[in-house]
Amino acid sequence: MIMKKDLSINFLGVHCENPFFLSSSPVCNNAEMISKAFDAGWAGIFYKTVGINGMDECSPRFDITTKEDTPWIGFKNMEQISEWSLEQNVEEIKKLKKNYPNKVIGVSIMGSNEEEWITLAKAITEAGADMLELNFSCPQMTSHAMGSDVGQNPELVRKYTKAVVDHTHLPVVAKMTPNISKMEDPAIAAVQGGAHGISAINTIKSVSKIDLDHLTGLPVVNGKSAISGYSGNAVKPIALRFITQLAQCEQLKTVQLSGIGGIETWQDALEFILLGCRNVQVTTSVMQYGYRIVEDMINGLSHFMDERGVDNLEDMVGLAVNNIIPAEELDRSYKIIPAIHLEKCIGCGRCYVSCYDGAHQAIAWNSETRKPEILIDHCVGCHLCLNVCPVFDCITPGEVIFKDGRDNNRNGEDIVKQLVYQ
Ligand SMILES: Cc1cc2nc3c(=O)[nH]c(=O)nc-3n(C[C@H](O)[C@H](O)[C@H](O)COP(=O)(O)O)c2cc1C
Ligand code: SF4
Ligand code: SF4
Repeated sequence: MIMKKDLSINFLGVHCENPFFLSSSPVCNNAEMISKAFDAGWAGIFYKTVGINGMDECSPRFDITTKEDTPWIGFKNMEQISEWSLEQNVEEIKKLKKNYPNKVIGVSIMGSNEEEWITLAKAITEAGADMLELNFSCPQMTSHAMGSDVGQNPELVRKYTKAVVDHTHLPVVAKMTPNISKMEDPAIAAVQGGAHGISAINTIKSVSKIDLDHLTGLPVVNGKSAISGYSGNAVKPIALRFITQLAQCEQLKTVQLSGIGGIETWQDALEFILLGCRNVQVTTSVMQYGYRIVEDMINGLSHFMDERGVDNLEDMVGLAVNNIIPAEELDRSYKIIPAIHLEKCIGCGRCYVSCYDGAHQAIAWNSETRKPEILIDHCVGCHLCLNVCPVFDCITPGEVIFKDGRDNNRNGEDIVKQLVYQ
């Protein structure tokens, strides 16, 4: 059943019919393709990063990582910003705004000095865009005056953000690089420069694979490859980590967040929303499956809200932020012993092997019946076995054992109820 709840949300003072945007990349290169995306249901876009001049790109420029039979676990690209000139892109943006006045047209820009940032900001503002995104984060620019080299330098981030903010009336989002240990520093610098929002993450510097025959990386360009950006579902945990840290940072409490990195489904998107994002952006999964994935995102999120009795998407923004705490504050007073439901067990032995070779030798294996048994005294409650068992609900969290003198009269069942295994 298709359900359309009101998913609208205000992002940086702009009404968005839903939180789903395309992120700046080849999925939003020109007016024709973006029109198709808008018709499919995307609320807005961040147009492929516009520079003063078009780029000189290499071929091929993509590679994927795989695991067993699953391709596209991660995606590597060696592409820079738009191949078109500023003038060509301005024409496309004008066309789009005229045909889609109610969709949100964010445009990503990138200059190599203050003057270029100002020229770009003025031209895109005059073209009719709704917001600007400052690309401080592309990891494979051939100029060190652009991209993630700038994004790692808070002084430059502050300076270029201010230059843009002083020459536009539009909301400005600064897009951060994950190729840094503390993203809060450039994000705070962007806010000091006047940015209204922060988006994260751009791609992660990577070497996706080495070709064992030709002894070079992939993709191969005339015998060579280069360190460049990794994206897709594999990077989502890293993106969520950065978003958590931005959401928890006192100096960033006034800015709004846009989450990017590995979003394929409505559940992925909701995770970013629960960590404080009012907007989410997608590229790699659209490159793999096409614009239509937004239909499922809209439908899935609508159903979820309906089931939970949530009327406004806004009410879910940030609900999980305070539940991510420092490791030293975690409750370490108990262990949860797994319960094996033998009636569901298919006798594959994976729990036994993993516990023996990768954990604490706490599963005994009966080679005649091909059934496992937990040895409670050896078990530390790590739950590796729950994660390797291929049968749904065959191993579940069982008895809670408190460490000596640390039960504080607590009920173990309440602790188990909080656990989720997918
Ligand atoms: C082929 C490709 C080209 C990209 N080009 C740009 C770009 O021009 N500007 C930009 O800000 N980000 C660019 N990105 C980064 C994406 O916008 C996004 O931040 C990143 O891919 C993570 O999201 P994802 O996992 O949904 O792809 C590009 C990504 C890919 C895969
Ligand atoms: S929880 Fe860990 S230690 Fe205990 S049986 Fe499972 S894998 Fe072994
Ligand atoms: S992994 Fe699961 S199915 Fe396989 S032996 Fe262990 S309990 Fe049984």
